[in-house]
Amino acid sequence: EKGNHRHFMAKEIYEQPEVVGHTLTQYLDMANGKVRLPFGDQIDWKNLSRLTISACGTSYYAGLIAKYWFEKLARLPVEIDVASEFRYREAPLPDQGLALFVSQSGETADTLAGLRYARQNGQVILSVVNVPTSTIARESDAVAQTLAGPEIGVASTKAFVCQLAVFASLALAAARARGTLSAQDEVSHVQNLISLPGLMARALELEPEIEKLARELSKAKDVLYLGRGTSFPLALEGALKLKEISYIHAEGYPAGELKHGPIALIDEDMPVIVVAPHDALFEKTASNMQEVAARGGRIILVTDAKGAAECGIEPEATIVMPDMDPTFAPIVYALPIQMIAYQTAVFMGKDVDQPRNLAKSVTVE
Ligand code: M6R
Repeated sequence: EKGNHRHFMAKEIYEQPEVVGHTLTQYLDMANGKVRLPFGDQIDWKNLSRLTISACGTSYYAGLIAKYWFEKLARLPVEIDVASEFRYREAPLPDQGLALFVSQSGETADTLAGLRYARQNGQVILSVVNVPTSTIARESDAVAQTLAGPEIGVASTKAFVCQLAVFASLALAAARARGTLSAQDEVSHVQNLISLPGLMARALELEPEIEKLARELSKAKDVLYLGRGTSFPLALEGALKLKEISYIHAEGYPAGELKHGPIALIDEDMPVIVVAPHDALFEKTASNMQEVAARGGRIILVTDAKGAAECGIEPEATIVMPDMDPTFAPIVYALPIQMIAYQTAVFMGKDVDQPRNLAKSVTVE
């Protein structure tokens, strides 16, 4: 039931600190600051030449963020595709390779077909699923379960952040096995993961400020989302959330691609939402924001105090997030992104839990 919330989506947004905390208890040895996978040493991370990931929609965006983590932390090359492409493109797969499928429902037709293709091609199958009795879970060699609990809202929220929490843990486990993570760094990454639920709870407190953005956003015909690094998939996720529940057209772009086309769209009618924690790429994104501002673009900036101070422009609005280590920051920055879409759709009177034309689980092609 919805409890005190108007919609399942709101309830599920607010459950996120708890379900991420719960999921992490299954993947971390908190007392010793170590990662501990529930399926033990079943996966031979050390000898993998690469990892193949596929999924659909929001689960695909979780996989895109995971690619940054596996590659940077574990030096493990990742190939990632949307499942509807992966299943048909006859991709060559490495001998004894590892194929990973991500699905909240565990029943998505394209993802399941991709799994069966990988199976026929001799891959070890790992799945990150929320429903442990699902077909995808049953057909996998190892299952990394997300403990988000039942997700009712058609727009995925809590399953997404739990997928990210699982991926962060898997990337650290892979890094340890591959010798690219010192014991000391493992402890500090695990401490950062443990601090996430508290940071997420603080991010939820920003909702009244986000609510104030809804009126302006509701007037937009198009919205552009920009980010770099792990904030790029979040830009894609922000655009998908807004499209799904408010029916406003939105695009997510890597900030560095702005000059290669989308900058032509910038005018005072199109809000540009920039996701930019003050990380190693911040200055690059800040110069993209300045390019948008110079062309009269209206910027909504999601950043931290340092980013707000150093962005070099005056955004129309700034959502100031708590300070945190940048590595796993997407798990917290997902929340304002979801709330922006939610508040806008509610302001417009849309049916956020049951958006038109969409099904919770896409079991046919
Ligand atoms: O159950 P799955 O994770 O396999 O579903 C994948 C997509 O259908 C799903 O994420 C969809 O994009 C959501 N409506 C996004 O909010």
